Amino acid sequence: METGKSRPLLCALLTLATLLSGTRGTPGAPWEPPAFCGDYKCPDYSVQYTSDDYEERKYVETQWLTTGVQSVQVDDLTDGFKKLKSVCDGNNEGVHKVNCKTWPALITVTQGESDAESVSVSWFFPPEVDLPTPLDTSVSKEVRPAGIVYVRTFPDPVNKDTVSSNLSLLRKALAGKPIEHHRYTGAGYNNPWDIFKTHHNEIWVNAVPQDQKSK
Ligand SMILES: *[C@@H]1O[C@H](CO)[C@@H](O)[C@H](O)[C@H]1NC(C)=O
Repeated sequence: METGKSRPLLCALLTLATLLSGTRGTPGAPWEPPAFCGDYKCPDYSVQYTSDDYEERKYVETQWLTTGVQSVQVDDLTDGFKKLKSVCDGNNEGVHKVNCKTWPALITVTQGESDAESVSVSWFFPPEVDLPTPLDTSVSKEVRPAGIVYVRTFPDPVNKDTVSSNLSLLRKALAGKPIEHHRYTGAGYNNPWDIFKTHHNEIWVNAVPQDQKSK
């Protein structure tokens, strides 16, 4: 993959981000992925605040493959993740293989008017990966801007009840903060085809992006 050209810039930006984040143990130290990422690459963040209820993380800009799915039913989610995986396997312009051994996998639920929900699944790719364009037009490359994510970690099991009670506790704990009220994300860090058996489960609620606060 031809990523050589953009690498010096990325390195510079990452170094800058590291230097600017006050919460790192050693200024300028390279990003140390958290243990729950295992040997897989995962997105760079710094912890801004921690309480019993949640952790406030400041993420760098991140890139993802994303596709919409019908619902949060296991079958629908699995179909979605299979589509993302097939892009890694070469189902893309140029037929490039892409390393898919990265975390996390996201399930994002956007709650609309009435009870309608739209659901998408996403897969993280590190900044040095030059993501190819998927041939499957239902899969898109997504860039999430740098920003604050409030994260609640909880153990197994993952099911409707544990997700909804942990989500509501998280939202309660964030009362008064500028959060996205209609969207939440489940983040999984486990074997791609085993994400429902993971022991480290996260619910993410995003802070409203800076440039949207005034709208
Ligand atoms: C969160 O999830 C855990 C386990 O998955 C569950 O035991 C707990 O009751 C849930 N709710 C809260 C508010 O912690």
